[in-house]
Amino acid sequence: MRDQAEKLRQIIENLKLRQAVNQANLVNSIKKKTARVITVTSGKGGVGKTNISVNLAIALSEMGLRVIILDADFGLANIDVLFGIVPQFTLVDVINSKKNILEVLADGPKNIKFISGGSGVEELVKLEKEQLEKFVENIGLLDKLADVILIDTGAGLSDNVMNFVMAADEVLLVTTPEPTSITDAYALVKMVSHRDKDKVVKVIVNRAEDANEGNEILNKLSVVSQRFLAFKLNQLGYVYRDEMVIKAVKQQQPFSISYPKSHAARQIREISKKLIDAQDEKINPGNSGVKGFVNRLVNFLNA
Ligand SMILES: Nc1ncnc2c1ncn2[C@@H]1O[C@H](COP(=O)(O)OP(=O)(O)OP(=O)(O)O)[C@@H](O)[C@H]1O
Ligand SMILES: [Mg+2]
Repeated sequence: MRDQAEKLRQIIENLKLRQAVNQANLVNSIKKKTARVITVTSGKGGVGKTNISVNLAIALSEMGLRVIILDADFGLANIDVLFGIVPQFTLVDVINSKKNILEVLADGPKNIKFISGGSGVEELVKLEKEQLEKFVENIGLLDKLADVILIDTGAGLSDNVMNFVMAADEVLLVTTPEPTSITDAYALVKMVSHRDKDKVVKVIVNRAEDANEGNEILNKLSVVSQRFLAFKLNQLGYVYRDEMVIKAVKQQQPFSISYPKSHAARQIREISKKLIDAQDEKINPGNSGVKGFVNRLVNFLNA
């Protein structure tokens, strides 16, 4: 009985997925094609950004979207560890004109590509105008190769992370239900709201005990942001605290691949559908995609 119910549920889920993909493809074919650049961030560290980036990438890829993850947690290689793959080159090799962007794209599972950020963006600031233009042209190729670019950042309110946050089309803000994590998430929202009151910030609560807790935290953050900052947050959803996530991390496998039926994997698929449904939001008109992102980033770096 349970098996049949499970099969039926899977069929329905697949149908819904297909609908979402058709919708996304339609939107894509109408619009000028540039990649959607999404920065994944958090106030406090260790809340699940890398796990969410990787598994969201897998869910989006399974829906037929082309996804590239940029590991921008400079210093600590995050994505490498989760995939168990170490790329040979990094973005720094592109910045230094040693490699072109295609040569630094590493293959992850499920058709995902990923780029290791390497030692940092400081290199970008050092470039002469011509070198910078060359870099922007080069990285602009990613608009042709990807529908979505997920940028996994380090935690915190550092200038470096804030620049990635402010330059992206959309921000996914991850928090856990722990008070310190919520306070730090709020601090980040506050900084964002001061710099751009129209920034699109979508919140994910990770490691929620249950649906009640997930919704409660989402609402709490929305209410205080609205009341004290007049800033509107977008509630993207929650992911349960799930032993399967911990197991998968130990096996250096994304949980959506090792445990596709886990709560966490299902909830990530729900979240990815919601993300795709929001595809029609027009963000950064006239300066979209990777090129727009890098142009804004460089402006912030030089400010
Ligand atoms: N939904 C979850 N359920 C249970 N454990 C989780 C969940 N999400 C993350 N974890 C645990 O938290 C750890 C940290 O997750 P992750 O590395 O994705 O966080 P992060 O925000 O990227 O950290 P950092 O700030 O260091 O980059 C994981 O190794 C895993 O053990
Ligand atoms: Mg991380």
